[in-house]
Amino acid sequence: KVDGLEFAVADLKLAEAGRHQIRLAEHEMPGLMATRREFAAAKPLQGARIAGSLHMTVQTAVLIETLVELGAEVRWVSCNIFSTQDEAAAAVVVGPDGTPEHPKGVSVFAWKGETLDEYWWCTDQLFQFGDQGPNMILDDGGDATLLVHKGVEFETAGAVPEPSEDDPEEYKIVLATLRKSLAADAKRFTRIAKDIKGVTEETTTGVHRLYEFAKTGELLFPAINVNDSVTKSKFDNKYGCRHSLVDGINRATDTLIGGKVAVVCGYGDVGKGSAESLRGQGARVVVTEIDPICALQAAMDGYQVTALEDVVETADIFVTTTGNFNIITAEHMARMKHQAIVGNIGHFDNEIDMAGLEKTPGIKRVEIKPQVDEYVFPDGHSIIVLSQGRLLNLGNATGHPSFVMSNSFTNQVLAQIELFTKPGEYDKQVYVLPKKLDEKVARLHLDALGVKLTKLTKEQAAYIGVDVEGPYKPDHYRY
Ligand code: NAI
Repeated sequence: KVDGLEFAVADLKLAEAGRHQIRLAEHEMPGLMATRREFAAAKPLQGARIAGSLHMTVQTAVLIETLVELGAEVRWVSCNIFSTQDEAAAAVVVGPDGTPEHPKGVSVFAWKGETLDEYWWCTDQLFQFGDQGPNMILDDGGDATLLVHKGVEFETAGAVPEPSEDDPEEYKIVLATLRKSLAADAKRFTRIAKDIKGVTEETTTGVHRLYEFAKTGELLFPAINVNDSVTKSKFDNKYGCRHSLVDGINRATDTLIGGKVAVVCGYGDVGKGSAESLRGQGARVVVTEIDPICALQAAMDGYQVTALEDVVETADIFVTTTGNFNIITAEHMARMKHQAIVGNIGHFDNEIDMAGLEKTPGIKRVEIKPQVDEYVFPDGHSIIVLSQGRLLNLGNATGHPSFVMSNSFTNQVLAQIELFTKPGEYDKQVYVLPKKLDEKVARLHLDALGVKLTKLTKEQAAYIGVDVEGPYKPDHYRY
C-alpha cells in the first residue's frame, strides 16, 4: 500500500514504458476513446465499484482508464497467470498523473508468471473496496464470478468441502482460498453477491459457465454476454487470433511455419482465425472438428479435415481452439514427431493433458526460456510445449492488438453502463446487447480504416423492412 493505494505488481518503475504503449494504443482504440468523449459529462459509472478480471495488458489498461473516466472505482486482476504485461500493470497503478513514488491510479494485483496460489490470492483481492465489496463484475473466463458463486454456496452450506483426490490442483486452491475467507467472515460472499448489480463476460468459455448457472437457477445476478456481440466474437476471436496465434508461435520458437503441417483442433471463431493465421504463413493446415457444420465450413475453406489420430505422428504444429478438455492427450504427445510444437489458444489449460504429460514415466522437462518447455521422452525424442498449455497468444506474445480489442472493450463498457444504470430491468439471466449497440460499436471503428458506408434510401429501407438508421439485420442473422 502506498499513499493509501493497494496494489501488487512486478515493478512500478516500468510505468513510464507502459504509459508510452498506452498512449499509442489509445490512438488505435477509437471505440473506447469515443465512449470516453460521449460520456465525459454524464459519468454514468459514478458510484460503480467494478471488480475486473481480464488479462492485464496494454489494451486492458485503456479499458480500465475508460471505466475510471466514466466515474467508476476499479480493482483489477489478470485472468491468467502468464498474460499480464508488467509495464501495463505498473502504468495503471501509477495512473496518468502519478509517479512510481506516489501512485494515483487503480489497484491492480497482477504480474507475469504468478503461481496458482498467487493467482487466487489476487482474485480474492478484487472483492475488498475498503470496507465494501464491488457492485459490478467485469469477467473474462468467469473466475471472479465463480469465486462469488462458490463462496455463497459454501457459506450457505456452512462449510467448504474437503477436496477429493481427483479434483484438479487448481480447484483445491479455490477451496483453500474460500476456506480462509469463510473462517474470517462467514457471510462475506453472501453480502458481496447481494450488492452486485451484474456481470459482463468477455469470452466463450465464461459465457458457457453463465448459461449453466442460469439453467440451474443458480445465477446470483444479471449477466451480459459480451462475447456474443457480433463485434466481439466475429472480430476478436477470429481476426484477433489471426494476428496473435502466429505471433505467439514465432516469439516462442522462431521456427519457420511455411511448408509445415499445422493441426488446428476446432473450427469455431478462434479456430477460423487460427487456421487462417497459419495458412498465411504458408503452413499446410489440417482441421479437426466434431460439429458437421464447422467441419463442412473448414473443408469449403480449403482445409483438410480429419481426425487427430490420422496426423498425430506426422504433423509439426498442434493448436487447440475448442474450449473443450482432453483434446490432446499425453498418449498423443508421446506419439508426436521430434520437436513437434504443441500449444493451446482456448481459454483454459485443460485442452492439453499437461498433468498426464508430466506423469509420463521417465519424462524430463527442460525449460528453454520462460513459457517454452521441451519435454524429452525416455526414447530421446521431444516435443515443445508453449505456455504450459495455457493460452499461448497471451503467454508467449502480447495477445490481440489494440484495434480489435477496441471493439470488444467498447462492448464491455456499454454492457457495464447498461447493467449499472438500469437495475431492475434485467433478471438473473444472461443477455446480449441490443443489435443497435453492436452496430454502433462497428460504426465507431469505420473512420479509422477509411471505410465509407453506403446510406440506405427511405424507399430501400422500406423495401427490405428496416429503419434507415438500423438495426439492419434480424436477431437470427449470423454474419
Ligand atoms: P466456438 O464454440 O466458436 O468454437 C469451438 C469449436 O471447437 C466448435 O466449433 C466445436 O464444435 C469444436 N470442438 C469442440 N470439441 C471438439 C473436439 N473434441 N475436437 C475438435 N473440435 C471440437 O468457441 P470460440 O469462440 O472459437 O472459442 C474457443 C475457445 O477460445 C474458448 O475457450 C474461448 O473462451 C477462447 N478464446 C480465446 C481467445 C484468445 O485470445 N486466446 C480469444 C477468444 C476466445
